[in-house]
Amino acid sequence: MAKEKTLFTCNACGGTTPRWLGKCPSCGAWNSLVETVAESASGGKNRLGAPQGYAGLANAQPVTPLSAIEAQDVARTPSGLSELDRVLGGGVVEGGVVLIGGDPGIGKSTLLLQALDALQRNGLPTLYVTGEESGAQVALRSRRLGIDGSQVNLLAEIQLEKILATVEAAQPAVVVIDSIQTIYSDQLSSAPGSVAQVRECAAHLTRMAKSTGITVILVGHVTKEGALAGPRVLEHMVDTVLYFEGDTHSPHRLIRAIKNRFGAVNEIGVFAMTEKGLKGVSNPSAIFLSQHSEPVPGSCVLVTLEGTRPLLVEIQALVDGGSPAPRRLSVGLERDRLAMLLAVLSRHAGVACADQDVFVNAVGGVRISEPAADLAVMLAITSSLRGKPLPRGFIAFGEVGLAGEIRPAPRGQERLKEAAKLGFTTAIVPKANAPKKAIPGLTIHAVERVDEAMDTLRGLE
Ligand code: TYD
Ligand code: MG
Repeated sequence: MAKEKTLFTCNACGGTTPRWLGKCPSCGAWNSLVETVAESASGGKNRLGAPQGYAGLANAQPVTPLSAIEAQDVARTPSGLSELDRVLGGGVVEGGVVLIGGDPGIGKSTLLLQALDALQRNGLPTLYVTGEESGAQVALRSRRLGIDGSQVNLLAEIQLEKILATVEAAQPAVVVIDSIQTIYSDQLSSAPGSVAQVRECAAHLTRMAKSTGITVILVGHVTKEGALAGPRVLEHMVDTVLYFEGDTHSPHRLIRAIKNRFGAVNEIGVFAMTEKGLKGVSNPSAIFLSQHSEPVPGSCVLVTLEGTRPLLVEIQALVDGGSPAPRRLSVGLERDRLAMLLAVLSRHAGVACADQDVFVNAVGGVRISEPAADLAVMLAITSSLRGKPLPRGFIAFGEVGLAGEIRPAPRGQERLKEAAKLGFTTAIVPKANAPKKAIPGLTIHAVERVDEAMDTLRGLE
């Protein structure tokens, strides 16, 4: 195939140059030019803008009122891994494109190999394209997973055109590309993994999925900052974006939908990495608690609601210090939010840690983004600062506002019931979350303000 002409396009302003330059000549942005395939539309510029109208350029297309279009349910096939199906919204969708990101070694390849094997057993022809490992390495993994008798087809290839031709010939129903960063197209001279290559390859694969009805699952790397490597445009192009997260030192993994055109987002799937691959955890509420035989200072359990299931997560805080340049560090929680909470603590509850190092951590590598974690973070910090543990069997949740008010969390009843089920006995919650009917075994203290929460806590000690 002849090489198509390429151009360098500025990511910031869209200007083009024929050569790569460090600085965009149109807008002056640095390091923003990426290689793109030049559009070969003949006559390009001045055709649109023809004063005599557009009819000569293209035929008008029929339009349809929305009410006349029949909304069809998309055809889904369950993957056989129920925790994965939960985040996908029920299963893989015909012609759907899924992007799945996660740190190296988290288990993306393992999960997808297991999913393909299950799909193949369900009668769907599948293809696993590996660009990172050799066929022998994948075979070795499949032996470990106990699926070495699997009928999943394998292709070790990194050139896009060859992959597309193979897919056309083999006609699978589901294709996994592991990973999109290793694939390159002949049409571009930049290296695999570059923004231009990732964008171009993903665009071709997406088009192929839409025109043939084949489900395409792309594996993507994440950067140090935790975003999917490559252009953000990748997330816009695909139908579903999943993140695979967790602490590689602990066995538990969470898979989270960030975007899903075919289902709800913020649903999570929970897996445990075992000797024989990933196993779904159908009742995950207690897995993110560390096992202390006695309550320790700086630890507070939070009930968080991810998707449809409540999860109990232990928040740990360590306040230590007296350093001239105090550090604030958070793992699994937003750092800006931590700074805000420290300011609220100091202003509205008289708990000052301005000259202290403050570290907070959500146990088990889980990432918590909901503001309902605020109260638990505050209580953990206070407990560490005072060196006093919170009462045994204690939980808290609630959003904290800048004025020191404590706002309700969605579906508080459900959270409290789950905590009671797991044997927790005392809770501090926002006033609006206090249940009308008592929950057996759980003493609930409803508070409206941060200082009130601190007073309540002192009363419990
Ligand atoms: P992998 O799927 O290769 O991760 P990714 O594709 O996201 O980079 O997962 C590799 C890790 O999983 C590796 O550290 C070993 C571990 N693992 C198990 O614990 N049990 C298993 O059965 C398998 C296959 C892997
Ligand atoms: Mg891998």
